[in-house]
Amino acid sequence: MTNFYREDLAYIHDVGFRYYALESAPGILDILNQNNLSKGFVVDLGCGSGLWAKELILADYQVLGIDISESMINIARQRVPNANFVVASLFNVEIPPCDAVTSLGECLNYLFDPNNNHQKLAELFNRIYNALLSGGIFIFDILEPGPLSQGNPSRTFTEGEDWIVLVEKEEDLKQKILTRRITTFRQVGEYYRRDDEIHRAQLYKASYITEELEKVGFQVQTLNSFGQYNLSKGHTAFVAHKTVVPES
Ligand SMILES: C[S@@+](CC[C@H](N)C(=O)[O-])C[C@H]1O[C@@H](n2cnc3c(N)ncnc32)[C@H](O)[C@@H]1O
Repeated sequence: MTNFYREDLAYIHDVGFRYYALESAPGILDILNQNNLSKGFVVDLGCGSGLWAKELILADYQVLGIDISESMINIARQRVPNANFVVASLFNVEIPPCDAVTSLGECLNYLFDPNNNHQKLAELFNRIYNALLSGGIFIFDILEPGPLSQGNPSRTFTEGEDWIVLVEKEEDLKQKILTRRITTFRQVGEYYRRDDEIHRAQLYKASYITEELEKVGFQVQTLNSFGQYNLSKGHTAFVAHKTVVPES
């Protein structure tokens, strides 16, 4: 049982921050189509509450979603009963043979799994390359280091009908680690329940990620948007191709 994206933050992410997965979805479906992957089996690493998995199922793909948060997976299972979901860390889960792997929303940056480090990330790229069928693609995004636009540290709040979330962000410029101190209040009956989480994320330069992907054999393209959806500042998307191996 992980201590991150517990029940209230999972709920708030699902209702208040769904725009990223939903607005990126048409652009990512286009990328799959353009790569002759208009159907097939997609593994979504860090699938969260299954927003993107649902779009994939609606477009006739088969989906396996993997997330370290049990609360996120609980929401995903209710939302998309005809996809498969597993609670596990993407850094050690077995990735089955598949047509595409996706990972949206900085999942590879998070240090929730204490084993996540540069070496584990390189191993993950290798495992994904080996799991992909010839012609398959790996589509994901990462958060890069860089000064926070609202100062360092910065504080923001966001609110919805029955919740509010307060976030203090601080970037360690030397270690390239972003720490988010998150306080949530969610209405439960008459009162608001408080919870607190601290999320740490390792930040990576896009050029470093490209090099690591190329080392395992991918052909790499970077993007600042998925279709019409422009990624927010500091985010870069990657489309990593496993080139078609000619049949002998
Ligand atoms: C910002 S959320 C994005 C969720 C979803 N992909 C979306 O776009 O709505 C990041 C997700 O990554 C998951 N995550 C972080 N580290 C993980 C790990 N090591 N293994 C599996 N999931 C992880 C979190 O639990 C969380 O659901």
